[in-house]
Amino acid sequence: MVIDFRRMSPIIAIYVIFLIGINTKYGACDLDRNKTAILAVDASADSGRKIPDTLFGIFFEEINHAGAGGIWAELVNNRGFEAGGQNTPSDFSPWAIIGNESTVFVGTDRSAPFKRNAVALRVQANCDADECPSTGVGVYNPGFWGMNIEDGKGYKLILYVKSLDSINISTSLTTSDGLQTLATSNIVASASDVSNWTKVQLELFAIGSTPNGRLQLTTNKKGVFWLDQVSLMPMDTFMGHGFREDLVSMLADLKPRFVRFPGGCYVEGERLSNAFRWTASIGPWEERPGHYGDVWQYWTDDGLGYFEFLQLAEDLGASPVWVINNGVSHRISVSTTNILPWVQDALNSIEFARGDASSTWGSVRASMGHPDPFDLKYIAVGNEDCGKKFYRGNYLKFYNAIKEAYPDIEIISNCDGSRTTLDHPADYYDYHIYTSTSDMYKMKDFFNSASRSGPKAFVSEYAVTDSSAGTGSLLASLGEAAFLIGLEKNSDVVEMASYAPLFVNANDRRWNPDAIVFNSAQMYGTPSYWMQHFFKESSGAVLNPTYILPNLSSQLAASAVTWKTSDYGSFLKIKIVNIGSDSVNLKIMVSGLTHTINSLSSSTTILTSHHVMDENSFLNPTKVVPQKSVLTDANTEMDVVLSPHSFTSFDLALEQTSYAADM
Ligand code: AHR
Repeated sequence: MVIDFRRMSPIIAIYVIFLIGINTKYGACDLDRNKTAILAVDASADSGRKIPDTLFGIFFEEINHAGAGGIWAELVNNRGFEAGGQNTPSDFSPWAIIGNESTVFVGTDRSAPFKRNAVALRVQANCDADECPSTGVGVYNPGFWGMNIEDGKGYKLILYVKSLDSINISTSLTTSDGLQTLATSNIVASASDVSNWTKVQLELFAIGSTPNGRLQLTTNKKGVFWLDQVSLMPMDTFMGHGFREDLVSMLADLKPRFVRFPGGCYVEGERLSNAFRWTASIGPWEERPGHYGDVWQYWTDDGLGYFEFLQLAEDLGASPVWVINNGVSHRISVSTTNILPWVQDALNSIEFARGDASSTWGSVRASMGHPDPFDLKYIAVGNEDCGKKFYRGNYLKFYNAIKEAYPDIEIISNCDGSRTTLDHPADYYDYHIYTSTSDMYKMKDFFNSASRSGPKAFVSEYAVTDSSAGTGSLLASLGEAAFLIGLEKNSDVVEMASYAPLFVNANDRRWNPDAIVFNSAQMYGTPSYWMQHFFKESSGAVLNPTYILPNLSSQLAASAVTWKTSDYGSFLKIKIVNIGSDSVNLKIMVSGLTHTINSLSSSTTILTSHHVMDENSFLNPTKVVPQKSVLTDANTEMDVVLSPHSFTSFDLALEQTSYAADM
């Protein structure tokens, strides 16, 4: 540890020198088990530095069915029957047939009323009431590994139907075997009502629960009908905007300051033809063609499109960070000479988000129910594309055009500026780090030697990913916590950071580990998710200098921030990672405080477990979660014991504070 006495107030410097004197008895770099280490916190007003308001946010990628079958609450999988491709007959799975070859014939054709998604499902019932099985004949959709149907809850069903005859179609929510009906309603219409494609909307109220339900559309009436764009949404969604309440609440609890979206590799595609295209993801959901994301290898109906991502960021009170495709995919890149239409497409996307409601693209946004502009201020040009042949040429075209039209937009380059000066203009450089726990722990010092001039760093993807992470271990979270402590300390050059990936549907684990694990009805945070809770007050807080004596930087990492709640006054939050397997006796000495400490409202929170590789699971979702308790002896001098393999926060309530802050 190098202590920079020039950065300290004289009183604090003398104090630290005094502490060093005490500690030379212990030896420079190790700590005898029975000896006490000292953490000196300089809380004097003039030694603090404000952390950027944007420091900690989230990165949402459509990976692991994080969106489709994840935070987007749509329960029907392949609602438009397009997943099997545009040539018919096509595979319409996961839809499946109810009935047998003699009673029903089901297949796709191209008769749908929507220009960009022409495939529809044709159902031909060959039986009448007395001939049909008691279940009727037709189709069911099992959703994304089962629909979560909850007793007493309402579900909005919308579908498009056409028939040349009268119809009587039973719509029902059932258990996975179809034997128990949890909600039902019939669509009865004369031929003249449905001879053209007709939108039908109804509400189903569940009288029972199952995490593994399905939607059935059946009939007991001989004849042919067509179905298209079948949607089933829970009536309760996060802020009424279509997001799964339980999952997005876990994001809201992190108080993210930005949302980077929609990828990741998802933005690029293996091939450009399979990359996310924002124009295909906006407008009425029925008219969106959907697409096959070939990097993570699944179909999305694009119900979660560009508009919804902007809405999500707004609902979380976070700044959107829109990652645009700059004509570069994993395999093929558009040459810089041909890139201008892509540049125009990016400008259009910004107009969609920010333009006046009377502008060409702003009016499309307004027609979707958001006349006011979204607060889009950050554009990332590509994802991990720096080394690609046309990246730099393309980047400059995007940079110049965006800056000319929107000078206030901050642009993020894919090229790493942490060790070398970028050869192109940028407001931020994107930095990704996936590594082992031990390396991540050491990375706490990585930005100490990053250039202090030039673009700021945006660590948009970080995670421990080797075997020490398991499927989300305590150990990995400790390495990451130390890394984030390092980012706080270097937040003069690192302005934004986010863990990756955020979500995994346990039925489709394409990437491991992830912050939040879920299935149709359950979810839990991995220790890496809970570790982030310790940092949710850091953005915009004041960083106070900390010094650990003796130098134990291979075992301990600490930082301190002062932050003010809107209601409860100010807190000094001291965070310490002990990645070692021994407990540490620690004397915390706070100097320079101008406030008194209210010990009744002070608290301590610890993230640890019996074994360093412990994880949470559906069976034991709270095995490794922060445990909070009152810090009764809170004072400017405290003797504490840091548990082995732990991350601890001491939250000292300052002055008139009278309630413990939420963890
Ligand atoms: O976070 C998972 C993937 O890791 C992202 O898609 C990509 O940017 C990185 O390689």
